[in-house]
Amino acid sequence: MKNASQRTWGGRFSAGPAEAVKQFSESISFDHRLWRQDIAGSIAHAQGLVKAGILTKVEAGKIVSGLRAIAKQIEAGKFQWDPALEDVHMNIEAALGPVGKKLHTARSRNDQVATDLRLWVRDQSVEMLLAIRLLMQSVVNLAEANQDVVVPGYTHLQRAQPVLVAHHLLAYVEALGRDMDRFGLALSEGMESPLGSGAIAGSTLTLPREFVAQELGFGAGVTQNSMDAVSDRDFVLDFLYAAAVTGMHLSRLAEDFILWSSTEFGFVRIGDAYTTGSSLMPQKKNPDVCELVRGKTGRLYGNLVSVLTMLKGLPMTYNRDMQEDKEPLFDSADTLLASLQVLAGMLGDTKFNKVRCEAAAADPMLLATDLADFLVSQGMPFREAHHAVGALVAEVEKTGTPLPKLAAQKYGAAAGKVFDLRRALAARQATGAPAPRNVAAQIARWKKLLR
Ligand code: ARG
Repeated sequence: MKNASQRTWGGRFSAGPAEAVKQFSESISFDHRLWRQDIAGSIAHAQGLVKAGILTKVEAGKIVSGLRAIAKQIEAGKFQWDPALEDVHMNIEAALGPVGKKLHTARSRNDQVATDLRLWVRDQSVEMLLAIRLLMQSVVNLAEANQDVVVPGYTHLQRAQPVLVAHHLLAYVEALGRDMDRFGLALSEGMESPLGSGAIAGSTLTLPREFVAQELGFGAGVTQNSMDAVSDRDFVLDFLYAAAVTGMHLSRLAEDFILWSSTEFGFVRIGDAYTTGSSLMPQKKNPDVCELVRGKTGRLYGNLVSVLTMLKGLPMTYNRDMQEDKEPLFDSADTLLASLQVLAGMLGDTKFNKVRCEAAAADPMLLATDLADFLVSQGMPFREAHHAVGALVAEVEKTGTPLPKLAAQKYGAAAGKVFDLRRALAARQATGAPAPRNVAAQIARWKKLLR
């Protein structure tokens, strides 16, 4: 265990922190995950110090090769993280040994952690984008494989109107496309480098901040206010929000597959590899993957609310509370990534039961609106047509006579033809509507976009 004066900040202390405080305040157990970004940030900072005339090229060279050696050790799992050194920043600096003594010049852990975390969010956003794209591809593939399958579309979970199941699936692809946009915002084009903001007020030693920002790939240059730079965690919230919304979409998709795989619907069969059994009921085949995806969405929301709440009462600028931003951030990234991957796998192992889908979609009630549209085409105002068809539906319920038959009796053979399902679908031609031609074009569009 390090004594007080050996600690990085130990100069003014006569005794080290209590054991309980060390355990309570350490973050190395989770922020070691920032090591790549921390090392990248330190290499860029060392180069900046050369430009500022604070380090010689030789000194910087030693630091950089030291940092690269540490990276190799960490990568190989051979690096010993020391909780007495609090966090990833101090662990890496300490491992540099004497050559590292000048590295922390004109830098604070406050701008360091702000930098590391931005880089981490940027890297993870790329991971999310790739995983979302894979899931989208898997949804599009499922849509393409079932291009001619018709199902009832639902509102209020009551049968509403017929759609191609591909249209239903592509609705999720649209939503996931917006999720990609949200994660895309976190990429470097939108990020400014906080490095050089110091603890709160920069430094009397002037750093080439723009140069360092460029080295680190911050596309938007440098932050313009040192106090904001060290206290801003909006980018964490942006990521957590993007993750929460994506999780909500996955949860809704999961819910559809839970319903569809029930005996009551019977629209899909999820592959055995993506379902589980019951320890008691031998007949059971449960959609646990979907349920876990739905359930884990709660964590994604919780993580967002947790960080929002942690930040809301903080005075300018850095407060140690902010160390609490990391675990929710890491958890959301891990949780979402796992959900995206497992769902992509599950959809690749899911089959639609065409017979069951078509039987449900054959319900003529689904085309009651089409009958009203037909009456409109004969000159009846829509409100009257709606009422007239409503009366026919009531008669169907009373007499049991099928709607097409009643419609033909009352409004002629042409009214009966309205109930031809394929014709009804083909008639839905407006942009965004599920005519098979439109749906095929959308599948082609997405396949091209996702390539
Ligand atoms: N581990 C700290 C965090 O994650 C690093 C910054 C520490 N700064 C400080 N002034 N104690 O927030």
